[in-house]
Amino acid sequence: MDSAIRPLIAGNWKMNGVTQNLSQLEALTSGLVARAATCDVLICPPATLVRVAATTCADGPVLIGGQDCHFEKGGAHTGDISADMLVDAGAKFVIVGHSERRADHHESSALVRTKAQAAQEAGLVPIICVGETQDEKLAGRALEIVTGQLTGSVPDIVEGGDIVIAYEPVWAIGTGMVPTSDDIANMHGAIRDWLAGRFGADGATIRILYGGSLKPSNADQILPLANVNGGLIGGASLKAEDLLGIIDAL
Ligand code: 13P
Repeated sequence: MDSAIRPLIAGNWKMNGVTQNLSQLEALTSGLVARAATCDVLICPPATLVRVAATTCADGPVLIGGQDCHFEKGGAHTGDISADMLVDAGAKFVIVGHSERRADHHESSALVRTKAQAAQEAGLVPIICVGETQDEKLAGRALEIVTGQLTGSVPDIVEGGDIVIAYEPVWAIGTGMVPTSDDIANMHGAIRDWLAGRFGADGATIRILYGGSLKPSNADQILPLANVNGGLIGGASLKAEDLLGIIDAL
């Protein structure tokens, strides 16, 4: 953890959550207020809940984000959501290029970059996800894959840390497996070097999150590592108690 960068603990609810799950946001808010937490906390619920979640969390410590956006501002794109729509609903961040979208929806890095740019233009902070598959890791290609995804997905213009990078090894997502501390620190260090090379001093202020089976039981080993500026959490973000356990590890 780099003390100069305010950590971000971000929950990705994926395709989980209906109205009754909003009670978790209330519990999370109460827990954060009681702790006077020193990190930013974000929940990205499914699109159907973004507006009501933002209303539920208004003026509180929990920020709300989207899980994806289209690269265009509007038009004939049935089923899609624009960055402006997310802003209108109360979102502050949006996840782009999650490995589940890269796999399920065949999203390329070039497409992810246009989405990240659309988010920036709308005033959202894009959380740009990168990470290697198990086969790529076993072939010794993790760094090459992640660097390639960064090169393809990160916009050319970044100001004052208005993007976030999330390193999520695909094989660690939802599996209970996590990389070794050395592997996480090495990859985050390589991402930091890449950001510094591309954006100079601004690159040193960009938050790099770790994601993949991050839980209360392993957060105290992962979150203190160098260049880990918080986490992107799936399963353990669905319950306020679990997410607060991770926040306590900070
Ligand atoms: P899990 O925390 O469930 O492994 O999911 C991580 C993730 O994909 C967050 O975007």
